[in-house]
Amino acid sequence: MKILGIESSCDECAAAVVEDGKRVLSNVVATQIPLHAKYDGVVPELASRMHTEWIYGVVREALEKAGLTPAEIDGVAATAHPGLLGSLLVGLSFAKAFAWAGKQPFIAVNHMLAHLYAPRLSSGNVSPVSPPEYPFLGLLVSGGHSIICRVDNFDDITVLGTTIDDAVGEAFDKVSKYYGFGYPGGAYIDKLAKDGDPTAFRFPMPSLHKGDHPYDLSYSGLKTAVINQLEQFRNPRDTAAGPADIAASFQKTAVEILLRALFRAAEDTELNTIVAGGGVAANSYLRSRLAERADLRCVFPPLEFCGDNGAMIAGIGYQYLARGDRSPLSVVASARVQGFKKKYP
Ligand code: KG4
Ligand code: ZN
Repeated sequence: MKILGIESSCDECAAAVVEDGKRVLSNVVATQIPLHAKYDGVVPELASRMHTEWIYGVVREALEKAGLTPAEIDGVAATAHPGLLGSLLVGLSFAKAFAWAGKQPFIAVNHMLAHLYAPRLSSGNVSPVSPPEYPFLGLLVSGGHSIICRVDNFDDITVLGTTIDDAVGEAFDKVSKYYGFGYPGGAYIDKLAKDGDPTAFRFPMPSLHKGDHPYDLSYSGLKTAVINQLEQFRNPRDTAAGPADIAASFQKTAVEILLRALFRAAEDTELNTIVAGGGVAANSYLRSRLAERADLRCVFPPLEFCGDNGAMIAGIGYQYLARGDRSPLSVVASARVQGFKKKYP
């Protein structure tokens, strides 16, 4: 089954064709980063307008690269939530129209579940990993979400912990914005940190209060502490530290916050396979810290499938469609994540 997947939840206008939920035949990602970079963040209205202009060309290119005509597509999947409402609407409406015109089955999918599915994809330059068996622990880390969850199936996750304020990717982006490192911040900080001293600055770990859940996360304190360092940092007499040291010290703390909660969850649930997904799963320090744990199997998506893409949407879409699930064309987009079970210990 060849599935067309369409993703437009934020600033990537993306489409891909994936065969049988696994083999990526094409993966086209048109990024709007240069457009939003001058504002140091995504401008929702501009994003949805660009999606409207680009979606047709992006889907056409995905079909051409896969060597397929629209009629040769067996089903269509699109992100319905969570994300920017106006942006979601563009991809979702396009996918519905495509499926309606070709009388193909259609499925609306959850962007975060699709991130978790990404390690199952294989493409010409990426060899497939052996898919982790359910259940496992999921670490979903992106610009909008930070979630530690138990995963029982591709469509069945239970949230064990989540951020009580900012998402981890958002903290990378905000710190980068204040220090002028570049947008979006994650990749810039990751690169800069390689030449920095992670012990140059000591930033606080959040102390969650009694009654908070042991797997919850918090990033607003770290973000504020790093930004408060800016004045001292700007005055070279006050510190010998450079941008790389700030980046490395921030990144270390940001990752340790995630790992503290994740390792607790692994111990308590006795799940020793961890699957990461989302843009922050590309982080090299996070990957190297997890690789140190020989007792845990840590599965990361290939770098090309960490950020937003249509292949993960087509991949998970196949799983639903192959099972016989269909979405009505009346399905609506939603800014908020839907359908996650919440369970705290
Ligand atoms: O999944 P994604 O592409 O979009 C959302 O669904 O939000 O994630 C984007 C986030 C941004 O906050 C970006 O700064 C972060 O992922 N990111 C990284 C890295 N690459 C992207 N964060 C840390 N290290 C990276 N290498
Ligand atoms: Zn994403």
